[in-house]
Amino acid sequence: MSKIIAVTSGKGGTGKSTVCAGLGYTLAKQGHRTLIIELDFGLRCLDIIFGMENNIKYDLGDVLNGKKTVLEAVSQVPMANNLNVLCAPKTLTTVTAEQIVDICRSIKKYFEYIIIDTGAGINSHVFDIVEQANLILIISTPDQVCIRDASLMSDEFYNRGNKSQRLIINKVSKKVIGNSLVSNLDEIIDKVGVQLIGVIPDDFKMTVATGTGNPIPAESEALRAFDAISKRLGGEFVPLTVKTS
Ligand SMILES: Nc1ncnc2c1ncn2[C@@H]1O[C@H](COP(=O)(O)OP(=O)(O)OP(=O)(O)O)[C@@H](O)[C@H]1O
Ligand SMILES: [Mg+2]
Repeated sequence: MSKIIAVTSGKGGTGKSTVCAGLGYTLAKQGHRTLIIELDFGLRCLDIIFGMENNIKYDLGDVLNGKKTVLEAVSQVPMANNLNVLCAPKTLTTVTAEQIVDICRSIKKYFEYIIIDTGAGINSHVFDIVEQANLILIISTPDQVCIRDASLMSDEFYNRGNKSQRLIINKVSKKVIGNSLVSNLDEIIDKVGVQLIGVIPDDFKMTVATGTGNPIPAESEALRAFDAISKRLGGEFVPLTVKTS
């Protein structure tokens, strides 16, 4: 049985796709067969992040219009054997929650983790999809607008009946924590009202890696954070250490 994890945020640009890529990569490196499904219709980016922009033969659009099965349409990510991605189509397409549920059902025996990148802008279809997940990862950066939007998103899923949520605070740096913007991480956790599963530093090494399609370098603090979150997803206890620059 796969664990279906939806990665979402209230505000755009918080790092959802980066988190999907980072967690997909570390889960795969830990030996878990993992698939990322990208719902960012018309604005896909995981092909670039994984350095396979020119090697995507099929995408989610081919599955939705019945041309390919899910297994035929997924692409294996060269930097991690156990990692596959089903990229979003380049054109705007609508998808229903039922279609995504059917897709997940048809492949659940092949993957231990299915990670859904909800993409920029969230509509009612996306809400319907996310609420079906076994776990919702809410991504927030340490700024007040983002924190408030994360809290609203969480409330919405809670009201829809999905209480299985964890918070990831992304792009954390010394510059923003402990000053007039945000006093400390506890303030963010309290305001969003969701249990924390990890903190990812603002890490230029990762920006470079994802921009060039290279693996995140081993010395990257962000990679260490993704590795820890992946282990926590599997139930392992990994103490929280936050290293920022
Ligand atoms: N921890 C981080 N450290 C440094 N840069 C980061 C980090 N997380 C994300 N970024 C950068 O922030 C930008 C936005 O990230 P990303 O595309 O993952 O956000 P998103 O939430 O998926 O955006 P959208 O809402 O458009 O789908 C990218 O340039 C990415 O490289
Ligand atoms: Mg994205």
